[in-house]
Amino acid sequence: MKQWKVVITDYIENDLNWEIEQFSKMDNVTFEHYQLKQSPKAELIEKIKDADIVVVNMATFDPEVIGAMEKCQLLIRHGIGYDNVNVPACTKNKIRFSYQPDYCATEVAEQAVSLIMCCARKLFASLEVLKDAAQTQIWNFAPMGEVHRMFGQTLGVIGCGRIGGRVVRMMQSFGMKIMVCDPYLDERQKGALGIDQTYDLETVLREADIITMHTPLNDDTRHMIDEPQLKMMKKSAILVNTSRGGVINTEALAKALNEGWIAGAGIDVYEVEPPPPDMPLFGAPNATLSAHIGWMSVEAGWDIRYKIMDDIKACMAGQAPANTVNKELDGMLGGKVYREV
Ligand SMILES: NC(=O)c1ccc[n+]([C@@H]2O[C@H](COP(=O)([O-])OP(=O)(O)OC[C@H]3O[C@@H](n4cnc5c(N)ncnc54)[C@H](O)[C@@H]3O)[C@@H](O)[C@H]2O)c1
Repeated sequence: MKQWKVVITDYIENDLNWEIEQFSKMDNVTFEHYQLKQSPKAELIEKIKDADIVVVNMATFDPEVIGAMEKCQLLIRHGIGYDNVNVPACTKNKIRFSYQPDYCATEVAEQAVSLIMCCARKLFASLEVLKDAAQTQIWNFAPMGEVHRMFGQTLGVIGCGRIGGRVVRMMQSFGMKIMVCDPYLDERQKGALGIDQTYDLETVLREADIITMHTPLNDDTRHMIDEPQLKMMKKSAILVNTSRGGVINTEALAKALNEGWIAGAGIDVYEVEPPPPDMPLFGAPNATLSAHIGWMSVEAGWDIRYKIMDDIKACMAGQAPANTVNKELDGMLGGKVYREV
């Protein structure tokens, strides 16, 4: 019977007791788990070079790391985005790369809606007013500035896939006009969302009152919101980002908030994670910041663990995982599901 080595390079769960229990029931599996996200590349390579199946959360899998995996048949990303994995290098080395695109989309959409609401209703500013009033016994709402009714305003959705689409559906009930910017949306997807047209980025930036980002991070989207784009937005606009930190230039956003180019921002994701203590958004006015928790819920946490275990078991049975990223491998492997090692 083939012996399998399964390695988890880094994880966000409190513990991996469930995985340890599952693998302990399989005679043919050696299971190792680490927290190698911040570790030197040489240490990461040392731990995975003879693994058959590797699960990664945030550790960086560049061409050197991927090339060092002598036996790996399946690399699984624990999550939706996979900008920490060099997919062409996986394909070149005939390593199937899978991810979990269907997990936590509802949670991230709920996070985006929470940040939209929090910014629009100025909840954190109102806490300061409340604390001040408790001391003075006088309500002083002046520090809150203007609060606008969301009903009748325009919501701009940049990127309208699994998460953006859910945000559209959730926000349609708010009586907002919705403008979607997604050049890749087909007629079927538009029909399912009840959208008759999409708009270019500049039109959405100029016309929307609240803008929410839901694109992947790639060469096209990196810093797609920079100084010029922030200057196009209304002074009363709110910008929300639950996608990836790199789609917005952090320095430019801090400048926009400090100088009043826009009215507020709700941010869940950062260019460097965790951010350094002097990350400029910490000191910026009207910045509502959360700790990259869009994915977080008990339900989503179990969902992804079950899905990853299903992918591992599929691989051991010679079957493909649920979601292969480098589908071109199917043609390159000559009818086989995994590379020969
Ligand atoms: N905050 C969190 O905890 C968290 C959790 C999961 C995912 N995410 C992030 O959310 C983002 C969206 O995930 P998803 O599952 O909805 O992805 P998806 O692939 O389903 O949707 C992305 C959409 O963006 C569109 N798009 C691509 N390039 C674009 C561009 N230049 N302009 C406009 N639209 C563009 C695509 O056509 C697609 O419809 C990703 O960046 C992902 O990493 C964040």
